[in-house]
Amino acid sequence: MKYLLKGGMVVDPVAETVAPLDILVDEGKIAAMRPGIEDSDAEVLVVEGNYVFPGFIDIHCHLREPGEELKETILTGTRAAAKGGFTAVACMGNTKPPADNGAVVTYIKEKAQRTSFPVYPIGCATKERKGEEPAEIGDLKEAGVVALSDDGDPIMNAEVLRRVMEYARMFELPVISHCEDKNLSGSGVMHEGYISTLLGLEGIPAAAEEVHVARDLILAAMTGVHLHVAHVSTGGSVHLIREAKKRGVSVTAEVTPHHLCLTAEAVRGYDTNTKVNPPLRTKDDIRALLEGLKDGTIDVIATDHAPHRKEEKEVEYNYAPFGISGLETAVPLMWEYLVARKVLSPVELAKKMALNPARIIGLPDRVIKVGGEANITVVDPDLKRPVVTREFLSLGKNNPFEGRLLRGWPVLTMIRGEVRFTWDTGYNKQERAVTSKSKR
Ligand code: DOR
Repeated sequence: MKYLLKGGMVVDPVAETVAPLDILVDEGKIAAMRPGIEDSDAEVLVVEGNYVFPGFIDIHCHLREPGEELKETILTGTRAAAKGGFTAVACMGNTKPPADNGAVVTYIKEKAQRTSFPVYPIGCATKERKGEEPAEIGDLKEAGVVALSDDGDPIMNAEVLRRVMEYARMFELPVISHCEDKNLSGSGVMHEGYISTLLGLEGIPAAAEEVHVARDLILAAMTGVHLHVAHVSTGGSVHLIREAKKRGVSVTAEVTPHHLCLTAEAVRGYDTNTKVNPPLRTKDDIRALLEGLKDGTIDVIATDHAPHRKEEKEVEYNYAPFGISGLETAVPLMWEYLVARKVLSPVELAKKMALNPARIIGLPDRVIKVGGEANITVVDPDLKRPVVTREFLSLGKNNPFEGRLLRGWPVLTMIRGEVRFTWDTGYNKQERAVTSKSKR
């Protein structure tokens, strides 16, 4: 199948340019890229006035399969990802059973292959995610994991983490840390501060995260492993990571859209869709996270997509599971709150959502170039609509942004030259083009 993307503004995160170029895609590859391409054999996709990005990658999501298929499956999760503008995902290993051995990883990869959506499994760092002894890291590497993490839980024992890091370094795998001191977080359900006191809910102090960020940075420096800090939520963590980067520690970090767009204020109505780990913090934390994104301390925007069943969330705040279903709102949230408000440029967004994620999990640089694989995310900066969770393709409708009016939705997702989502036709229908704006 041949496609011609006409009239878009092509974003290049390596050259740091945005240029009006047409793109010809043939047999999965970029065949030509210049203004004014004509090709009568190609299906024309009119992307006038839209930004054409190298395909976005989410390096932190929970697809729940195997074991919790009522929350999400690899099929539903990857459909949601494509609709959300993602062209690849890396999925966490807190499945049931956990991805702590090659067999489970192979199962995930085989299931993913049937969806033909690129899924990169992350293996557990410790056996059964218990934090007691390192998993079979060689076995995991052979099965094809791109990183190691016990995400969902920290590794509380620093000596065990040290050994995980030493093996990970040997096998050239990054370690992704879920930074949370369980003794400090205790049975907390939201950020510890004025609002938790007001609501009578137990708090999780910022220090619960920061103590582990400091510890993990020290161990990363000691072992030489590449450390990636997941879902950074506090200003203190940003400060620690910034200092470590200056000292030359091999560390990268990510932030989620919800930690950038919401504070603990959102918990006031006891909406369990705001219950997430780490918890929503303060305005000052958001300011520091944005500064971290701007100055390169924070490399990646990742969703931490954590789908849960409706019945699990429809309980008292204390009993609800932590997590937000975020694959289908990440791009418009980041457009509305960051790009449209000139906090990040389109080039910077392409770095945080395509180039840097690819580099961290060891994929080729995400740029649109002649001869390269055609992985493309098209965003319409003017398409404005509310979040409607019942329209999610994810089985998890647990998202606190219901009804929020956002601009900048993904309107076309192309993976290896195949149209996987267009705004007009829905998932995986290859019929019509993305229409020009006048038709919407
Ligand atoms: O809110 C969260 N949910 N944070 C995590 O770290 C894990 C995730 C999940 O698996 O539900």
